[in-house]
Amino acid sequence: MSFQSAIRLADLKSGRFTKAEVSGVDLCFTIRKGTVVCLENSCSHMGLPIDRAEIESDGSFECPWHGFAFKLEGGICKTYPVYKIRTFETKVEGDEVLVDVGEGSQGD
Ligand code: FES
Repeated sequence: MSFQSAIRLADLKSGRFTKAEVSGVDLCFTIRKGTVVCLENSCSHMGLPIDRAEIESDGSFECPWHGFAFKLEGGICKTYPVYKIRTFETKVEGDEVLVDVGEGSQGD
């Protein structure tokens, strides 16, 4: 799989997720310290969407459903490390964010 257009860079907000769907995969994007981060919009606990979560200044967020805490980096769950949200590689071209949904990291 290769990079595909996902969202406009101008639509991303620090501290919030913005949803997009690419090739049938529900994704959520945010920008932190100038870097675009993309996670699957599906909590690894019960598969419910995470896009309504508020992202803290340290890059962590709590799933809005049962409060499990995650890190943006690697989608690692701080509450129960066995749960990990898939993350995807992104790149920016002009005002466009591209994502490669074929190479999402998967929990161990
Ligand atoms: S669905 Fe996210 S913590 Fe339960």
